[in-house]
Formats: sequence, C-alpha cells, structure tokens
Amino acid sequence: MAAYRDIVILTGAGLSAESGLATFRDKDGIWARYDYREVATPQGFARNPKLVHEFYNMRRREHAKVRPNAAHHALARLEREHAGRVTIVTQNIDALHEAAGSQRLIHMHGELLRALCSHCGATHAWTGDLDLYTQCPRCGSDAGMRPDVVWFGEMPYRMDEIARLLDGADLFISIGTSGNVYPAAGFVAEAREAGAHTVELNLEPSEGASYFAEALHGRASEIVPAYVERLLAGTA
Ligand code: APR
Repeated sequence: MAAYRDIVILTGAGLSAESGLATFRDKDGIWARYDYREVATPQGFARNPKLVHEFYNMRRREHAKVRPNAAHHALARLEREHAGRVTIVTQNIDALHEAAGSQRLIHMHGELLRALCSHCGATHAWTGDLDLYTQCPRCGSDAGMRPDVVWFGEMPYRMDEIARLLDGADLFISIGTSGNVYPAAGFVAEAREAGAHTVELNLEPSEGASYFAEALHGRASEIVPAYVERLLAGTA
C-alpha cells in the first residue's frame, strides 16, 4: 500500500462513452462513420471547411445533451480529497471533467466549446455553430474561425508542462484510451522511466497494455470510482 503524492491521470474517449459520447475506434466509433483525413486534419479543413464545420457543429449539439458520469465525478472527488496533487491530462475535447468539478486539467487536444481564429490566434468560448462567415470577436476577420481542436499532424497543447508533470509523478493512471495516438500513448513509458507506478483502467487491454505495472478492466463508471476509493483509503 503506497501513499502517492503526485498523481497524473491521462483520460480518453472511453471515459465519456457512458455519458453518451461516441469513442473513436470502437466498432461504431466516430472514425467508423467519418474519414478523419476529411474532418480532423488542417488539409481537410483547407479542402472543405464547410464539411469540417458541420462535423464539429454536430458534435457541439450532441455535447449539449450529455452529463458527466460516475467516473468523471470520482476523479473530481480524488482531486478534492487527495492530500497530494492530482492533475488530469485529457485527450478529450468535451467539457465533462469541468462539469464534474475537476480543476487541475490540461486539454492537450483542445476544446470543443472553444473556437480559434487562425488569423489573430485568439480563442473564444463557443457553444453555437461555426461557419465560413463567422467573424472573430477580436480581429473581426471571417473565414478564419475554426474549432480550437488539435488535428492530426498538429502539435498538442502544453506539452512542456505535461513532460514536467510526468517527470514528477509517482502514480500514472491511464483511463479509457486505446493507446493508438502519440504523443499521449507514450506517456506511460515516460512516467515509468521517471519511477511512477503505472495503472491502466480500461474496458479492455490497450495497445500499450504491456507498459503498465497494473491493469483493471471494466466499464469506467464502475472501475474508476472503486479505484479512487482504494486510493483515498490508502489501499491501492
Ligand atoms: N469504460 C472504459 N473504457 C472504455 C469504455 C468504457 N465504458 N468504452 C470504451 N472504452 C475504451 C476502449 O476499449 C478503447 O480502448 O476506450 C478506448 C477508446 O479508444 P479510442 O476510441 O481510440 O479513443 P482515444 O484513445 O481517446 O483516442 C485518442 O485519437 O481520434 C483521436 O484526437 C482523438 O483524442 C483522440 C485520440
């Protein structure tokens, strides 16, 4: 039984699946229905911005209907009640961690409810639709507004901060991610290298399963609250 001081938690789409948001690579996932090259690359946006706007407008509308689940709430509780530090690094662009009350949060792939002006670089809270004529509230230019989401081939956000956190962590937990997408899929190796205990909580073993010292498989809404209970009781 270890009393962990500095916990870093990587989350992925599997965490929000039971809230009603599709994952990407499960059989009925988003990438089974959409071509990521068309809707999630800068090249796709340049080729057909209207299609990309429609895709994210649809996801914003779906997002308005969902609520955080027991796994989101358990992680917010861990942050509140853990004596040390808890930081969530999420690949998710949804705002369900925030809705559950998590504070120390890094959206490494951006946020669905923010828009980015590719002319002036400003970002804006955005819950409605975006289109070709949407003007940037700061610089006023149009045709440059895009979802503030990190697309394939683009650099994720706050990577220096994440590297420092992984270097200082004594517990690294990965939840609801398939381990297919780098750099996030490489975090377990970095944390392990720095001496952290590594735990995977996922429906099934991920691509990176062999890197983890410990794994619990099941639905996030069940295994995450149970694991948080053990952490807070000091029996994990
Ligand atoms: N509870 C726990 N895990 C689940 C659940 C659930 N209810 N449902 C699905 N999972 C697991 C799946 O087994 C899978 O391993 O969640 C994982 C989801 O994997 P992906 O769909 O690949 O999503 P993710 O790993 O978050 O994708 C990474 O890829 O498409 C890009 O930028 C996008 O952030 C995303 C990144």
